[in-house]
Amino acid sequence: QPVPVIAIDGPSASGKGTVAARVAAELGWHYLDSGALYRLVALAAIGEDVSFDDETEVEALARELPVRFEHARILLGDEDVTDRIREEDCSIGASRVAVLPSVRAALFDRQRDFRRAPGLVAEGRDMGSVVFVDAAYKFFLTASVEARAQRRHKQLMDKGIAATLHDLRNDLQSRDERDAARVVAPLRQLADAVLVETTSMTVEEAVSFVLENVRARQ
Ligand code: C5P
Repeated sequence: QPVPVIAIDGPSASGKGTVAARVAAELGWHYLDSGALYRLVALAAIGEDVSFDDETEVEALARELPVRFEHARILLGDEDVTDRIREEDCSIGASRVAVLPSVRAALFDRQRDFRRAPGLVAEGRDMGSVVFVDAAYKFFLTASVEARAQRRHKQLMDKGIAATLHDLRNDLQSRDERDAARVVAPLRQLADAVLVETTSMTVEEAVSFVLENVRARQ
């Protein structure tokens, strides 16, 4: 029996990170935040003064990435970058480096290594379409741009980071466009994925929906 995978894909700030982490915790399964890897590559590029368009250099950074996931903290080398990679420059940088095919290839095996017993909940843009095509459970989690901008706004305010709703909405829209338009692994709702429209759902409701759907099919 292959190790079971729940793949949760969807656009930026759709709440898939929170939902996926909660589902993993409920089931006692491993959790992969694949977006964090792209954010880490962007942060490494910023730190090394490498342009996001320089495919050769960015690929080298992706291959060498000294990352460790420890107790819900993310370390790059010895530095705790858990909060740093959520900042806007890393969000934008992540979606820029994510269009580079060799960067995606460099992160492919690293992502597959997370698949360990008893199971994995993986979230991102191409979990169900590329990295874990054979996942038994695939979900597409989304919400309106307005709802997503408001959620991101609240998250940032809670952390004391200033941002306007207007800027966040524009940034989400341009990242969505870049993620959907790229040639390699574009964001798509797959025919075999279950749609979870969360605009008027709470986190608890979305988590229950996913868990019930998985249990009904187990
Ligand atoms: O999910 P998150 O917003 O952290 O992802 C940051 C960026 O990384 C996305 O905008 C997307 O461009 C890229 N990404 C991707 N494939 C994934 C996960 C994230 O291309 N599986």
